[in-house]
Amino acid sequence: MKAEVEARRASQADDRARRRTIYEGKAKILYEGPEPGTLIQHFKDDTTAFDAEKRAVLEGKGVINSRISEFVMRRLNAVGVQNHFIERLSPTEQLIREVEIIPLEVVCRNIAAGSLSQRFGLPEGQPLPRALIEFYLKDDRLHDPMVAEEHIAAFDWASPQEIADIRAVTLKVNDELRGVFGAVGITLVDFKLEFGRVREGDVSRIILADEISPDSCRLWDSASRKKLDKDRFRRDLGDVVESYTEVARRLGVM
Ligand code: TMP
Repeated sequence: MKAEVEARRASQADDRARRRTIYEGKAKILYEGPEPGTLIQHFKDDTTAFDAEKRAVLEGKGVINSRISEFVMRRLNAVGVQNHFIERLSPTEQLIREVEIIPLEVVCRNIAAGSLSQRFGLPEGQPLPRALIEFYLKDDRLHDPMVAEEHIAAFDWASPQEIADIRAVTLKVNDELRGVFGAVGITLVDFKLEFGRVREGDVSRIILADEISPDSCRLWDSASRKKLDKDRFRRDLGDVVESYTEVARRLGVM
């Protein structure tokens, strides 16, 4: 069994070596795809926090995040949230649509945690009066600073229409995912989305891109409030991959 897994990994690594790398991020690599307008998204086991000051390789994380993200993207597609996922190619690789990434991290929060708790002195776990959407500039060198719509418009990172669309899609994702996770006893505390532009003739529209996984969400067990997400790594709580696996198991994808 182990030999088979090793052999499959080696052959996937060979395939990848033949493909041109388009972009390498901290947790994923994008390779050129088989057809124009497509890419291959590979989920790495690498894990980072605090702008990659803290790093680890967590064996099995790539497979689990790829599966969870696929499940979520398919589900969102089914309710009309267009996104870049096309199909699974291997346990860690997805065929995706190529987009022009909008350089924003769009965070949506239902419950106070993380940087919101720090910034406003809110106890972690305090429900918010309504879902909050925040924008951060995707730039590690600057530590992803929070930005206002004023900055987004003035620096032309996205148009006012795109921002309106992003807000609407983000709220729809929130409604859908609260239901999906809630049904399996998991509370969606907050999450981060990324969007990209696709052009069709003269018109361009935005679709959801990147990934949705325990790396990009805060997910708490609804009964015990146990953290089942990347905060286990950020805060040295242990059992990182085990907790991600628990999320996948409850969603019925592992
Ligand atoms: P924050 O509370 O640290 O601002 O994080 C908000 C949400 O965004 C949380 O679900 C984790 C996610 N996130 C990322 O996906 N990438 C990041 O670089 C950061 C800082 C947060």
